[in-house]
Amino acid sequence: MAETPPPSPQRPDRRPADPRFSSGPCVKRPGWNPQALDVLSAETAGRSHRSPAGREQLAQVIKKSRALLELPESHLLAIIPASDTGAMEAALWSLLGSRGIDVLAWETFGMDWLTDIRDQLKLTDLRALTAEYGSLPDLEEVDFSRDVVFPWNGTASGVCVPGGEWIAEDRQGLTICDATSAAFAMDLPWDRLDVATYSWQKVMGGEAQHGILILGPRAVQRLESHIPPWPLPKIFQLTVDGRLNQALFAGDIINTPSMLAVADALDGLDWALSLGGLSTLMERCRDNFDLIAQWVVNSDWAGFVAEDPATRSITSVCLKITAPWFLDLDPSQQAAVTERMTALLEEEKAGYDLGAYRKSPPGLRIWAGATVEKENISALLPWLDWAYATVKSETPHPE
Ligand SMILES: Cc1ncc(COP(=O)(O)O)c(C=O)c1O
Repeated sequence: MAETPPPSPQRPDRRPADPRFSSGPCVKRPGWNPQALDVLSAETAGRSHRSPAGREQLAQVIKKSRALLELPESHLLAIIPASDTGAMEAALWSLLGSRGIDVLAWETFGMDWLTDIRDQLKLTDLRALTAEYGSLPDLEEVDFSRDVVFPWNGTASGVCVPGGEWIAEDRQGLTICDATSAAFAMDLPWDRLDVATYSWQKVMGGEAQHGILILGPRAVQRLESHIPPWPLPKIFQLTVDGRLNQALFAGDIINTPSMLAVADALDGLDWALSLGGLSTLMERCRDNFDLIAQWVVNSDWAGFVAEDPATRSITSVCLKITAPWFLDLDPSQQAAVTERMTALLEEEKAGYDLGAYRKSPPGLRIWAGATVEKENISALLPWLDWAYATVKSETPHPE
């Protein structure tokens, strides 16, 4: 008797109203459309950023970002070229070199900063505290008499630090934190962060064009007392004649910004402030994550990449396939399975950009930041089961 093929998995009947789940650029705030910028850019589009309206808008972005982040007076905030990368590079190139450095890297972005410090700045008093995808390095190993460079949230593995208790209050070195997918989503202890950076394109759903650099008093002191031995490109220069360039923290900018991106950043900030501010943003991320976590508990095929629940990112939620038939496949077959799943989800308009970061192990990644509506997450989850079952039924395997 001919074998009957396995039944096709039931296609869910409801799609997410918005299928955008990319981890950057992230989905715009609910209700956003290009007209949202009409009013905000009416006076600034096509005008100089040094015009009164341009200056005012840049100053508003600084003021509202500070308010939303609940940044203390002790810390300064500037808009920097080239997104989070620009802000991090400006910090690394301007501040490092006067003492040893501990770099924490557990996925691609921490690895990028490590490579930069080692191969570009060629600093040798360097300790790399690394871990595999899914884990964190041992935070007890960190030596705070040295400068410490780390991402708060490793976007590519969905592993974040479990709060800031591990950071010494009485440190001698600086803490330099890439907070790009943590800012506005996780509680950042400003008294323990001397430098923090982020980009607009993540939790706030802004444009990628610009980054934010936050400096605490100890970082300012370092800037004014330490002259790096290497040449500093103009876009990394934070001082003038050895003193902090104060104007950058009031709305001046190193080079010409996109005033459309600035208007869009303001739109996002206004939205977030009107919702109730930081606690509401954090709650939205937590609610999104909780939905996914609940689904994972009941799943017979999906698990978190992050092993320790205390380190699970509530923004870049990274999932792996735990089913034995999948684990028996070789890495290229595994990658083919997850690629096919994400292609099916795209095709069905059920979920876009759900593939794991290109340098990470095969899996899925769901952005669950504040601009994502929880109804869209709950509508997505049955589609993940459908895509998995469909690809499993198509893939030859012994089970
Ligand atoms: C942790 C982390 N650092 C740095 C970056 C680079 O950010 P950008 O491309 O905005 O410069 C990203 C982007 O995803 C990130 O997630």
